[in-house]
Amino acid sequence: MIDKQTVDRILDAVKIEEVIGDFVTLKRRGANYIGLCPFHEDRNPSMSVSPSKGIFKCFACGKAGTAVTFVMEHEHMTYPEALRYLARKYNIEIEEKEETPEEATGRLKYESLILITEAAQKYFQDILWNTEEGKAIGLSYFRERKFTDETIRKFGLGFAPKGRNNFLSWAKSKGYNPDLLVDAGMCIRRDDGELTDRFYNRVIFPISAIGGRVIGFGARTLIKDEKPKYVNSPESLIYDKKHTLYGITQAKGEISKRDKCYLVEGYADVISMHQAGICNLVASSGTSLTQEQVLMIKRFTNNITVMYDGDAAGQHASLRGVDMILGEGMNVKVVTLPPEDDPDSYAKAHTHDEILTYMERHENDFIVFKSELLMKDAQQDPIKKAGLINDVIESLSMIPDAVTRTVYVNVVADKFDVKTDVIFNRINELRERRKRNEAQRNPYPQRSYEPEIMEQATSVEGKKGITNIFLAPNEKELVYYLIKFGPYRLIFPENMVYGAPQTPAITVAQYMRSELEKDDESFTNPLYKNIYDEFYATFGDVSYTDDEHRDAVENAVLRHFTNNRDKEVIDMVVGMLNDAQPLTIKQFRTSIVPEEDTLGEMVPKSLNLYKFKVLEFICRQLTAELGEAQKNGDTERRNLLLAKLKEYSRAKTSVAKSVNRLT
Ligand code: UTP
Ligand code: MN
Repeated sequence: MIDKQTVDRILDAVKIEEVIGDFVTLKRRGANYIGLCPFHEDRNPSMSVSPSKGIFKCFACGKAGTAVTFVMEHEHMTYPEALRYLARKYNIEIEEKEETPEEATGRLKYESLILITEAAQKYFQDILWNTEEGKAIGLSYFRERKFTDETIRKFGLGFAPKGRNNFLSWAKSKGYNPDLLVDAGMCIRRDDGELTDRFYNRVIFPISAIGGRVIGFGARTLIKDEKPKYVNSPESLIYDKKHTLYGITQAKGEISKRDKCYLVEGYADVISMHQAGICNLVASSGTSLTQEQVLMIKRFTNNITVMYDGDAAGQHASLRGVDMILGEGMNVKVVTLPPEDDPDSYAKAHTHDEILTYMERHENDFIVFKSELLMKDAQQDPIKKAGLINDVIESLSMIPDAVTRTVYVNVVADKFDVKTDVIFNRINELRERRKRNEAQRNPYPQRSYEPEIMEQATSVEGKKGITNIFLAPNEKELVYYLIKFGPYRLIFPENMVYGAPQTPAITVAQYMRSELEKDDESFTNPLYKNIYDEFYATFGDVSYTDDEHRDAVENAVLRHFTNNRDKEVIDMVVGMLNDAQPLTIKQFRTSIVPEEDTLGEMVPKSLNLYKFKVLEFICRQLTAELGEAQKNGDTERRNLLLAKLKEYSRAKTSVAKSVNRLT
């Protein structure tokens, strides 16, 4: 954990134009900067960066945020990763916050293991470049494979020398704890209790997590036909194979830029393709693709193209994995390389343009590819053919989007000369069955609410909550006033009927809280509720003193919420700062009065409108219940509901009067 003071020091140092300037060329335009937006294919500068507000916004694609969110999005980092990145950029030492002993042990262990694998990577790399053995065996092997020096460096390749405890003695001499060397997967404990190196006399391919930290290794033998060809790091606290894709660190930027990810099998395939300039590509490292890996790719693109070796062997085994990609709603294509080739050999024998042309020409839709592949197998055998149609339909049934599914049903019906009805029926059967199975596995089925009013929303902790979409716009508007004008003094217009008397001065935040508490109301949207609660928890009542104090609080509020640990909060708040207008009260859009001078009128109005909507919502519900009671002939309940409804309607009418212009 990074403590709050350090976070503040980082944010103080950060200049958004410098941070973004590392990725995009910015030009001055008045008080702001403009540049090409890196989040879409921008041809004319659409992104504006405001140093004074500390935010950026693209007017074409709508992407907006702070320096921290820019780094998070562009570099695909988490919030703490982005802060660490910025700390490095501005030479700020990070002081980690004191943790509980459990937290500390967990984190320390994780950090210690990563320190070991990162040190090991440097150790192997150093041996490759700077020792006779490394140069003579490792480096010459890579060069024989036509890897350039630049490529060898880009992937941090290395060499583990002969001998069973070179690394071990080096690590011990550096003071690494031997037990941790085992936990990091670098050493093996023999039966007699002694330690020995896992990797020796092999070339080393470091494997990194998405943020670039080394978490494991693949080590290839140089001896022909030696088994196993690769010795890999075992699963550990830091190396979770199902969450790892070889090459993702180097590829992620290109994947999102090209909006496409190629998938290959081996380390060598990734490296050679990169060297040929195809950088939007990762490897599943020989294992079958996992859902976690697919979701990782999905963070960058919805389009995957699987590259198959020329010989058809192995294709069948991976077809299942592809069904899962379809199940994530991604578009899957397939490229088959010429016979005898794998991506590695193909990349080496062709230029960048030749490779791209080949891939464009031979890229096939997965469903079509699968149909044809299986058809070749089945030939004229009708039983086999029936089996394969079912197999293809199984793939179709994985596609979540009904429209896409329908398109494919037609393709397949055509190809196999089967009626579309038959296919649709079978798909529905399969989808029903899957749904049932899922329901069985998930003991908490979702309740259904009145659909037009309630929708699922994700709250800050990622828990599902229920949002009342009828009230949400008003909740949002109140949050807007709170965040943007919380510490401002409310000056009610003369002849205004609502609100407290003028003295003592009251701020927007104080007024809002007292009004909402009076009615015991709290927001239904988890995001807005969270912002609301966090506001008061962090800034208290925000009582009014003077302008200077107000500006300081205003800045602190904006900083707090635009650097929140919850990305949704940041997006929402940044969005508000950009929309410098109230959200539902349209007539003020054209007003030339500064917004802060309208608060005395607008905030009470906004609160009343919210109350009005709450009352209206309650009345609607009561009306529905009333209908129900009537139908069941439950007179007692009916009378009770009627009385309630009358009461609420009266309240509603009286609130409606005070918002008369808006009802
Ligand atoms: P390949 O045998 O195609 O390896 O296995 P490669 O990387 O292309 O190696 P070269 O071209 O012979 O040098 C594909 C992937 O399967 C995993 C590795 O991740 C490899 O890159 N694999 C293969 C293992 O983990 N262990 C093995 O013994 C073999
Ligand atoms: Mn290979």
